[in-house]
Amino acid sequence: MFVCPRCKGPLTAFRCAGCRLEFPQYEGVPCLLADESEGSSSRDLRAIYDEIYKNHENVWVDQGRSSEFLSYFGALTRATASESVLEVGCGEGQLLRQLAGREKYGIDPSLQALLRAQRGSSGKYAVARAEELPFASGVFDLAISVGVMEHFQDVDAATSEIWRVLKSGGRYVALIQTDMTKFQRLGVKLREYLLPPRPIAFVRWLGKKASRKRIVQPFRKSYTVESATECLRRNGLSVSQVVNRSTDPRAPLAGNHVVVLIARKA
Ligand SMILES: C[S@@+](CC[C@H](N)C(=O)[O-])C[C@H]1O[C@@H](n2cnc3c(N)ncnc32)[C@H](O)[C@@H]1O
Ligand SMILES: [Zn+2]
Repeated sequence: MFVCPRCKGPLTAFRCAGCRLEFPQYEGVPCLLADESEGSSSRDLRAIYDEIYKNHENVWVDQGRSSEFLSYFGALTRATASESVLEVGCGEGQLLRQLAGREKYGIDPSLQALLRAQRGSSGKYAVARAEELPFASGVFDLAISVGVMEHFQDVDAATSEIWRVLKSGGRYVALIQTDMTKFQRLGVKLREYLLPPRPIAFVRWLGKKASRKRIVQPFRKSYTVESATECLRRNGLSVSQVVNRSTDPRAPLAGNHVVVLIARKA
């Protein structure tokens, strides 16, 4: 299923005859980055996220990735066992593990995250960037990303790649965190840890904030619902539904700033 991330040609033993690129594998996880040369931006990206996942486990749990959220998102995507599913920026793979699907693929720039994801999972994983997906065109029924769109280096390149790998009529479900003021951010954290009180989780979060190994992602682009919808639209995806706590007050989303866009490839 994996192809060359650069020319999209076939790989034989993870070697592309067209580009003469050879891709290493680590413990069964192929590293399908087209440019791994010293100083390249994809190598730097991989190093930064590897460092985060090396120093922390269950990294994004305090961004609302509760077990209720994982089941809710799974139900929202309504992946059926007949579907082929791609999770872009799957991290440690908690969500992909929950989804049904005939074939489940997860990509992420961090090898450290994927080595963890691959344990106990039926998915197939590769180190890759959304901007250069290592898949042929029109192969997935469903693509998902959770908290990733804000961190793409080139959001148009990434979104048009997601469009390319979807089948006609395939769906893209993207969760994003829209912009918040400092005051709104504080409100979200207070609600998260005080209603109901979760002192252990709160202390763990404070520890992460105070740690010398603080989690800092390299890119963060700001979105509103409108600008994110427009980005999907200009890359060929039409948004059919926007879910947040106003449209579904029972949704276990971390706050009003969290939005799920459900889009389709025409
Ligand atoms: C906030 S984390 C979310 C991880 C996971 N989706 C979750 O919810 O637990 C962002 C993830 O996006 C990945 N990422 C960053 N840049 C990316 C890119 N250009 N293409 C694909 N994934 C990327 C990171 O490695 C990281 O795992
Ligand atoms: Zn190639």
